[in-house]
Amino acid sequence: MSAFLGVDIGTSGTKTLAIDEKGNVLASATETYPCHFPKPLWSEQDPDDWWRATVRSVRKATVRAKLKPAEVKSIGLSGQMHGSVFLDRNDKVIRRAILWNDQRTAAECAEIERRAGGRAKLIKMVANPALTGFTAPKILWLRNHEPKHFEATRKVLLPKDEIRRRLTGEYATDVSDASGMLLLDVARRRWSKKLLSALELDADLLAECYESEDITGKLTPQAAKLLGLTTDCVVVGGAGDCAAGAVGNGIVARGVLSTSIGTSGVMFVHSDEVKIDPLGRVHTFCHAVRGRWHMMGVNLSAGGSLQWFRNALCQADQAAAKRAKREIYDLLAEEAEKTPVGSEGLFFLPYLSGERTPHADPDARGCFVGLTAAHTRGHLVRAIMEGVTYSMRESLEIFEHIGVPVRRIRASGGGSRSPLWRQIQADVFGRKVATINVEEGAAYGAALLAAVGAGAYKNVEEACAAVIREVRETPVDRKSKNHYDRAFPVYQQLYRSLKDDFKSIAALEQ
Ligand code: XUL
Repeated sequence: MSAFLGVDIGTSGTKTLAIDEKGNVLASATETYPCHFPKPLWSEQDPDDWWRATVRSVRKATVRAKLKPAEVKSIGLSGQMHGSVFLDRNDKVIRRAILWNDQRTAAECAEIERRAGGRAKLIKMVANPALTGFTAPKILWLRNHEPKHFEATRKVLLPKDEIRRRLTGEYATDVSDASGMLLLDVARRRWSKKLLSALELDADLLAECYESEDITGKLTPQAAKLLGLTTDCVVVGGAGDCAAGAVGNGIVARGVLSTSIGTSGVMFVHSDEVKIDPLGRVHTFCHAVRGRWHMMGVNLSAGGSLQWFRNALCQADQAAAKRAKREIYDLLAEEAEKTPVGSEGLFFLPYLSGERTPHADPDARGCFVGLTAAHTRGHLVRAIMEGVTYSMRESLEIFEHIGVPVRRIRASGGGSRSPLWRQIQADVFGRKVATINVEEGAAYGAALLAAVGAGAYKNVEEACAAVIREVRETPVDRKSKNHYDRAFPVYQQLYRSLKDDFKSIAALEQ
């Protein structure tokens, strides 16, 4: 028997999933770790935590799947995008990695635009504007604020690529994840020498760039021993978690869009050619499918908003839920379900980590607007789900506006496991929302890429066609849709009304 592993280095934990040649899930294991917020809107993690979680989850998943070491033929990596791991000449991690939802780099984004000769020229070079979460601004931040660390830096790797280095000893990345560094010529699928030179960055800082299904190396003897695998096990390029999740959701052809609600909220649509939003509101990145691209819009705090609510306000209930062997999120959703559509005039702006799509505003803050004494905790939870979904509708409208067709919507991610949140999606988008037979997300996509790389399928499209099918549909409730159509412009206006106040609040903290 041959088995393939998908390892997803997420923000809340690392998940390893084992599949067989037919794409059947054999077992999975998840190991969690903390995220550090040393200042408001800063966000960091320790790569050693990712590594420990990788080793443990691989061991647990392979034991649970009862796999013999030699049966594991390949590993596909997926991971939170844009994070920067700074390594010195001895491959020592110089400081904690700065993550995708960190907002410290507004000045560096402006510097990048200036050095590139303006926003339009920058978009021409790398298909995207400079956004605070992307990697290039983080490298410049290190140069501007921690010059000693910058001087010592020899390589900058993305989270999953640091794990690849520890697995194989190779510095390698894949085109989908590399796109989010803002240093890739996305149209040509190779590093942008032009931008590197405008930023005075050495190309040697970067890893070698591969297509997602290509083999990038084999396990070193030490890694094979730690993981309980063999040195014949290969590691393929893999993908950023958005593209890997899209593969795991079968988003590999025109007209299908996936919504994913994890810590972030992602609207992802496949594109056969490079399409660019001239206003730079949605991203254009390489897809994990050879020679294809995708566009996406990202909400920085989707499931993350509900997670914050749970952590900050539901401590006692969490303990009670545990005792009752219930999921706290299910209990909260039950409370929300009892409240009316539209949360009786309560709105939530999901900007707990600032805002990316469509406003790209690091100063934006989360808010509840419209609270009355009649509102219950259930209203707050529903308002969070609705606010996150309105924010995702903004991306959907941009895709359609710039001519990217969306004929079907597939919902995925932890948030979409909630029937209530799926219904809110169908009603806010005004389209039925489907779910598929495998709800394993990015780790599943990464495992499929591993299977393609090991030759189990001809290509990614063939793998997806063989294993993925839609199993459930959530139809639109017309009455709710009408309500949301009236409420959506109010939601959109709230950002415009509060934008200047967000700036004043941010200035208070400086
Ligand atoms: C994508 C993004 C997030 C992270 C989360 O651009 O920033 O979805 O990849 O893991």
